[in-house]
Amino acid sequence: MSTTLKMTAAALLGTAMLAACGGGQSETKAGPPGAPAAEQPAATEEAAPTGKAKLLTAADVTLGEIDKGMVEKGKASYDVKCQACHSTGDNRVVGPGWKGITTRRKPEWIMNMIVNTDAMLAEDPEAQKQLEQCLVRMPNQNLSMEEARQVLEFMRTL
Ligand code: HEC
Repeated sequence: MSTTLKMTAAALLGTAMLAACGGGQSETKAGPPGAPAAEQPAATEEAAPTGKAKLLTAADVTLGEIDKGMVEKGKASYDVKCQACHSTGDNRVVGPGWKGITTRRKPEWIMNMIVNTDAMLAEDPEAQKQLEQCLVRMPNQNLSMEEARQVLEFMRTL
């Protein structure tokens, strides 16, 4: 059974790698390992039919002194849900490396990328630029607002 799992993961990764290097369109089916590789029709460039998603603004995210407890929890989430695609260095795995990310991106932008992933990929020019380079859609990892904020705290230490 673990062999089957490995093979599925390898197949998924293969798809991701192919998509990352071959000049395919952005409708890749990469998902987190183990997730069904279901097609998601029309989820690409078009915004949700209901209109603009409510994104977080600067007023929604406050940064203070770096909170070590939050950093640890954020790191734990990273290990489980982000590490497969993001390094903490500056090298790309599937998605961009996180080193210095908080100096490149606004905190609310990062938070939106984590909790409003699909809306960002549909509407935000910077997120779309990344998608054009990576050619893999980051799947929403279903982090709560609190968990996302902890990951942001972890990012501040990179
Ligand atoms: C299946 C691979 C995958 C996983 C898992 C993943 N990401 Fe991503 N992430 C990407 C890709 C690819 C991009 C670039 C945008 C795109 O192509 O969708 C990205 C972009 C990002 C960005 C913007 C980076 C930048 O430099 O602009 C952030 C922030 C981010 N991801 C956070 C997370 C967090 C937090 C997690 C874990 C909770 C996570 N990602 C899990 C693939 C992934």
